[in-house]
Amino acid sequence: MARLDEKLLLNELRSLGLQVRPLNIEEVAAPEGLGEVGVIRLAARSRVIPMAFTYEHSGGVAINNAMSLILSHDKYFTYLKLKEARVPTPETYLVFGREAAKEVARRLGYPVIVKPTDGSWGRFVNLVKSAEDLESLILQKAAMDSHMHLYLVQEFINKPNRDIRVTVVGDRAVAAIYRITNGDWRTNTARGGKAEPVKIDPELEDVAVRASKAVGAYYSGVDVVESERGYLVLEVNGVPEFKNVQRVTGVNVAGEIARLVAEFVKK
Ligand SMILES: Nc1ncnc2c1ncn2[C@@H]1O[C@H](COP(=O)(O)OP(=O)(O)O)[C@@H](O)[C@H]1O
Ligand SMILES: [Mg+2]
Repeated sequence: MARLDEKLLLNELRSLGLQVRPLNIEEVAAPEGLGEVGVIRLAARSRVIPMAFTYEHSGGVAINNAMSLILSHDKYFTYLKLKEARVPTPETYLVFGREAAKEVARRLGYPVIVKPTDGSWGRFVNLVKSAEDLESLILQKAAMDSHMHLYLVQEFINKPNRDIRVTVVGDRAVAAIYRITNGDWRTNTARGGKAEPVKIDPELEDVAVRASKAVGAYYSGVDVVESERGYLVLEVNGVPEFKNVQRVTGVNVAGEIARLVAEFVKK
């Protein structure tokens, strides 16, 4: 059933006196049967956007809203939105074929990062060291599913062995943790490693809040890396997990999100 994140949120919503009805996705036949304000907390990405869109279609509110989920789920859309909002982020190109991939990689300079537009948990994120490696990676991908035939080629950021997950609620960065790895340059928690609290400085708050707003999210988890150019945003998660952040920092993140939801119920 519900994961710890959703249980924490449910408790906080109820303690604010809100009437909450947990919906089991297996029992939903959309567009019927949804309420007025839906807090979208599904693990399966493919279900998140249709559910948010359904709430909005029936005149309700989805938290997060459908457009922010569409934008944040796609790393290319996110990149464009971050650029538009002048939020610092690694230089990135979307390519469909190997000639274009090799051309932009040459321009960026090796090593480069090659990743799908819609991945998670660090899967299929590759560090590519040479034109030969890029060539064989693309040949290998071309032999796989067709949805893999578009790639982001991205500047490699020589970061410390950690990144920062900032939880943004509304206009504020409410909590942040370092995700520290031992060895792997991918810092996803799913790959092991440990977490430590981050003292949020004004620059980090500014970058994270602007990134969250760039995709139009009401709240989010913003992944930030430290670079020679300062903080760079890697991605924005519109259905962020927060139990680790809460445990490591002691901040009641669920309570902050619940208060945000309550504002929408009042409106
Ligand atoms: N351009 C980059 N430079 C250096 N490390 C990167 C870069 N892009 C991703 N990484 C590392 O790989 C991890 C996974 O990449 P990310 O783009 O966040 O994809 P996912 O959605 O699978 O988490 C990141 O957490 C980061 O540690
Ligand atoms: Mg990531």
